[in-house]
This record gives sequence, C-alpha cells and structure tokens, in this order.
Amino acid sequence: MEETNVIDVEKFKLWYGEKQALFDVSMNVRKNKITALIGPSGCGKSTLLRCMNRMNDTIDGCRVEGIMRYHGQDIYDKDADVMALRKRIGMIFQKPNPFPMSIRDNITYGPKIHGITKYDELEDIVERSLKQAVLWDEVQDRLDQSALSLSGGQQQRVCIARALSISPEVILMDEPTSALDPIATSKIEDLAMELEKDYTVVIVTHNMQQAARISDFTGFMYMGRMIEFDRTDKIFNKPSDDLTERYITGRFG
Ligand SMILES: Nc1ncnc2c1ncn2[C@@H]1O[C@H](COP(=O)(O)OP(=O)(O)OP(=O)(O)O)[C@@H](O)[C@H]1O
Ligand SMILES: [Mg+2]
Repeated sequence: MEETNVIDVEKFKLWYGEKQALFDVSMNVRKNKITALIGPSGCGKSTLLRCMNRMNDTIDGCRVEGIMRYHGQDIYDKDADVMALRKRIGMIFQKPNPFPMSIRDNITYGPKIHGITKYDELEDIVERSLKQAVLWDEVQDRLDQSALSLSGGQQQRVCIARALSISPEVILMDEPTSALDPIATSKIEDLAMELEKDYTVVIVTHNMQQAARISDFTGFMYMGRMIEFDRTDKIFNKPSDDLTERYITGRFG
C-alpha cells in the first residue's frame, strides 16, 4: 500500500520572541498512522504539535521559518485559510476541556457552526461521533446532561467525539492521558488505535510505553531538535542516535 504524507515538516524553526524553541525540525506525518512525539520536558513537543494547525498564531512574538506543508500546501502561506486548516486538523489537550453544556451540545457545536441545521443530521453526527469515541454505550441515555458531570476519562472522550464531529483528517493529541487514571488511559490508547483506520493521529506523550504500544512512527526531540524520527520499532529497538538510546533506556541526564 502506498504511504502518503499528510504533513511534511522540513527544517522548521520557531522563536518565542528572542528565544528559539525549534531548530531545523524535519519529520512527516503519514496518513492513517499514529505518530508519537517523545522527549524530555521543554524539548518542544507541544510547540511542534501546535504548529501543525497554527495554534501558535495567537502567541505574541511567535515567529516561524522553514517548511510545514499539509498535503503539499504551505500551512504558513500568508493566504492560508486557518479556519479551514483547523477544520481538517483538530486538537485534543492534556486536560479534558468539554464546553459547559450538555453532551449533545458539545458534539453539535462544531457542525452547527459549519452550517448543519437539520435535526436528523445532527443526531446522526452525535451518534456517529460518540460511537467512534467509544462513549456511546456509556452516555446514550444521558445526552442532555452536562458534559462536566462525566468522569475525566469520559470527558476526554467527549472532547475526542467533539473533534470527530466535524470529520477532520488529522487529530493532534497533546498528552491526552496524562490527567487520567490507568483504566481511562488504556481506553484512550485503544481508542487512538481504533481511530487510525479512519484518521491520522499525532500524539505527544511522556509515556514511552504508550508511544511504543500505540504508534507507528516516533520522533524523539531534545532541546528543540528532532534527534531521530523513524518507525517506532526502530526507535525503540535499534535507535541510530546515542541520545535516543539513552532516553528510551532511561539513562538520561
Ligand atoms: N507561549 C510561550 N512563550 C514563550 N516560551 C514558550 C511558550 N511555550 C513554550 N515555550 C518554551 O518553548 C520551549 C518548548 O516548550 P514546549 O511546551 O513545546 O515543550 P514540551 O516538550 O511540550 O514540554 P512538556 O513535556 O513539559 O510539555 C520551552 O523552553 C518553553 O519554555
Ligand atoms: Mg508539552
């Protein structure tokens, strides 16, 4: 099967004011695969992830150079349609952040903004999204209850369902399980592997077992650089770089 790159990153650099946070980062995101970004705190994982749907745009003094393309189109082109980009590339954060409204309204919020008004169509989206987020069975009887009444793991799955409701192609996840207990974590991990069939996932994680278990490709970052990017089994079994080897074997610092 041909493997397509959804996102291409080449010699990408980023500055927060005077401080450079990314140095010549190169990597790519393959379609229908899970790509993990690992590395010590402060190495630039979240920064790189946020660049993929221009979530850094709102940060004062943030400047980029180099190439970041989505299906060959420059994400940072001055004429790029950022709203359209974010519709295709959704994001899940570390702390579940459902809107303070009902479960149903969380899911229909995006589709309504994008012009879907028919009741039946919205109900179908609610069911499809919650099923894809493996939450339907748990909440189908309480769709009008506040999403905030759910457990942390359920709230994170509401956020995933909300992201899926507008049929994105890529889902960026920034440590989506770090605020969750082990059972909720393994549910999200299973879910990520389920999503891979229909979506492309990029996940930042501090948990190396998680990266090794669920991802197809892994990038190891250190001090703003992409030290090594390769297939996950290569990174974890036969890394090329000594720094990668030291990090994954826990002999770091
Ligand atoms: N909004 C910001 N303004 C200025 N500097 C920032 C900002 N966000 C991040 N940084 C800096 O950029 C560098 C990379 O941060 P980033 O959050 O991307 O790291 P990370 O790998 O995600 O770390 P962690 O694992 O702790 O989440 C750090 O030195 C951080 O202090
Ligand atoms: Mg981070």
